[in-house]
Amino acid sequence: MMKKTFLLVGLATALSWTACQNQANKTTDTELSDSSFAGSIDGQEMTLFTLKNEKGAKATFTNFGARIVSLWVPDKEGNLTDVVLGFNKAGDYNNPEEPYYGTIVGPFGNRIAKGKFTLDGEEYTLPTNNGGNTLHGGFKGVHFAAWEGKQDGDNKVTFSYTLPDKNEGFPGNISMTVTYKLTDDNALEIDYTATTDKKTVVNLTNHAYFNLNGEGSGTILDHSLQIYGDQYTPVDSTLIPTGELATVKGTPFDFSQAKTIGKDIEQQDEQLRYGGGYDHNFILRGDKVDNLNHAATLIGDKSGIKMDIYTEEPGLQFYSGNFMAEKVTLKNGKKDAFRTGLCLETQHFPDAPNQANFPSTVLEPGQTYTTKSIYKFSL
Ligand code: GLA
Repeated sequence: MMKKTFLLVGLATALSWTACQNQANKTTDTELSDSSFAGSIDGQEMTLFTLKNEKGAKATFTNFGARIVSLWVPDKEGNLTDVVLGFNKAGDYNNPEEPYYGTIVGPFGNRIAKGKFTLDGEEYTLPTNNGGNTLHGGFKGVHFAAWEGKQDGDNKVTFSYTLPDKNEGFPGNISMTVTYKLTDDNALEIDYTATTDKKTVVNLTNHAYFNLNGEGSGTILDHSLQIYGDQYTPVDSTLIPTGELATVKGTPFDFSQAKTIGKDIEQQDEQLRYGGGYDHNFILRGDKVDNLNHAATLIGDKSGIKMDIYTEEPGLQFYSGNFMAEKVTLKNGKKDAFRTGLCLETQHFPDAPNQANFPSTVLEPGQTYTTKSIYKFSL
């Protein structure tokens, strides 16, 4: 399996963290302690935001990375189950080993080959934080940013952040907002916007790790998954797309009919070997529901919880938790064991800035990037 290395360069100085990190851990299975998410980062006050709907579903967020911390939805017995992996202190997210739990990634989610791209003849060079490539916006990206958070009533919170020009190498002061809404039909809607004052590239997504049987309840290998796409973008050994749009037919990547994630994951297959499992972008077919692409249906085998993903994005990165290695302790005290969570990241295709045949990720001054994704829970 490919080994992932994150370098720590600059991070310690980039963040000035003053928080109540040594608070007594008052957290129970259902309550996170507000004080464990208080404090200030880079002068920005930190808060734990809680959204609720009339059915009793509940979600919590920290403005550190505009992250989802927890998401409680009912299982088949009617018990609320926390289906998003995370930590019970904001400070635990400040971990370069695995910085992406629940976070927004940007300004460019997933990889840019060799950290280089060209716009209008000018070449831009980004810090490379992943095997010679740039992953998820680089070392700091927006996942280690202190976003400003504003809650609006019980079911909506908006986070805003401006990434300064050339920070992490991207051109333009890029101003982003992310709005999470917990609706009464148990859907978490995510609306993204971005504007820039220089031509740049933007590809925002959320990197929640899901386990629909509940955080810490074992592997996701018996979850059933259907992805509404017939093609995917194969990668080279550094997980950069080769440019090919390949059919999933006859390969372990065929999720066009629901199957368990574990069914083919151990097959001898070069693409699975490169990813250490699934870590690939699927091209959505465009099955429309309310004008959004139906992206995927995931079902927890023990809980009966079903999650449908709808999006305006053309792609979906399915990552089967291949780098999870019991290095961190989750909210409920369990370790992040191998493949005990998975990510389904709605997105434009990885390395789009260097691949002329992929949908464009260029954002010009005067334009507003907007995109919506919905994670809907039912039984
Ligand atoms: C994405 C990438 C993976 C991995 C995870 C985080 O999904 O595609 O390769 O880096 O993020 O561990």
